[in-house]
Amino acid sequence: MAVSSTLSRLNLLPRPLLPYAVSTLRALKFRPRCAPLTSFSNSFSAHFSTPKSSAEPNTQIPGAPDDDFIVLGIETSCDDTAAAVVRSSGEILSQVVSSQADLLARYGGVAPKMAEEAHSQVIDQVVQEAIDKANVRETDLSAVAVTIGPGLSLCLRVGVRKARKTAGRFNLPIIGVHHMEAHALVARLMEKKLQFPFMALLISGGHNLLILAQDLGQYIQLGTTIDDAVGEAYDKTAKWLGLDLRRSGGPAIEELAREGDAKSIKFSIPMKQHKDCNFSYAGLKTQVRLAIKSRNIDAEIPISCANHQDRSSRADIAASFQRVAVLHLEERCERAIEWALNIEPSIKHLVVSGGVASNQYVRAQLDQVVKKNSLQLVCPPPSLCTDNGKSYLSSFA
Ligand code: KG4
Ligand code: ZN
Repeated sequence: MAVSSTLSRLNLLPRPLLPYAVSTLRALKFRPRCAPLTSFSNSFSAHFSTPKSSAEPNTQIPGAPDDDFIVLGIETSCDDTAAAVVRSSGEILSQVVSSQADLLARYGGVAPKMAEEAHSQVIDQVVQEAIDKANVRETDLSAVAVTIGPGLSLCLRVGVRKARKTAGRFNLPIIGVHHMEAHALVARLMEKKLQFPFMALLISGGHNLLILAQDLGQYIQLGTTIDDAVGEAYDKTAKWLGLDLRRSGGPAIEELAREGDAKSIKFSIPMKQHKDCNFSYAGLKTQVRLAIKSRNIDAEIPISCANHQDRSSRADIAASFQRVAVLHLEERCERAIEWALNIEPSIKHLVVSGGVASNQYVRAQLDQVVKKNSLQLVCPPPSLCTDNGKSYLSSFA
């Protein structure tokens, strides 16, 4: 079978992190809290700082009451500073996101140094606001969860520093969370029927992953991108078309594409000849760039100032790009479903998450694919698809 070996990127941990973290959190309810380890590995390999004295996690503690713990989540992997407070039942008590929209628009993308500064400026305020809005005190928290990668290292550090500070002050354990794993597991917050094993298509600015989730911390990678992610292709297309990037490129393309003729430009579907589940968007980006050049579209002229003909030409490119970008997703999902059902015939759901999963066209097209295969599509609401503090807590719900 042409399925790659156990996912290496999601299995960064020496042992499955999440079951361990969850059961340790449960165990913590019955012991005095201990101080977090003082050194949180810079290489992010030590994901979960747990008291040295803690025994092997035991999920079957006799007489244990129902789990009820509250976790603060912090996320600074890219361009938004986010924090949330979530109860172990999955209830989101608060969510605060501070956007770097103006920086995005000014630099035409994420500038890591600027993003780091912006995170540093607002992180204290964002975390405080999340705690206040949740109507809890720091002493009510059981742990601090924080995104530790993948992401921009300068930015990730701001969140990790804040997590260490908060955890240190209140003697809480820190839980390091894998960015993409959180995108996959957030779906469990809103779809309580979602059981392992399930499939997930994770589509964001930096990643394109097709995985088979067998259990917490146990994933098989079915496909990944060999170059760019689909969100990157949306962002660059939007930039080259002179669109307003304040909400990032994806939503701008989605909106403009509604005005265009999706069949007007014949972009070719990537990797047709590769009978696997991998993705590639670099070639499609080049096709789009050439189409824009050949139509003399000037990105310096914002779409709001374009004349009717210019606008309609940009809309045709947006629509044609989107159609082919999503066709590529559809084709890979079809094949991945076939592969995954061979491994786990009991699969019932395909989760689609990550920023690009907010796109209505993407959802509608993928819905058709899963229905054809008698599966159900699970798409978190847009606010849970994009980066946010609460997605990092979903793993514990
Ligand atoms: O998951 P996310 O918030 O951050 C990363 O982990 O990258 O995803 C951000 C990506 C960006 O590329 C953005 O343009 C894209 O998600 N995105 C969309 C839409 N909303 C966000 N792409 C297409 N259509 C959308 N409506
Ligand atoms: Zn993300």
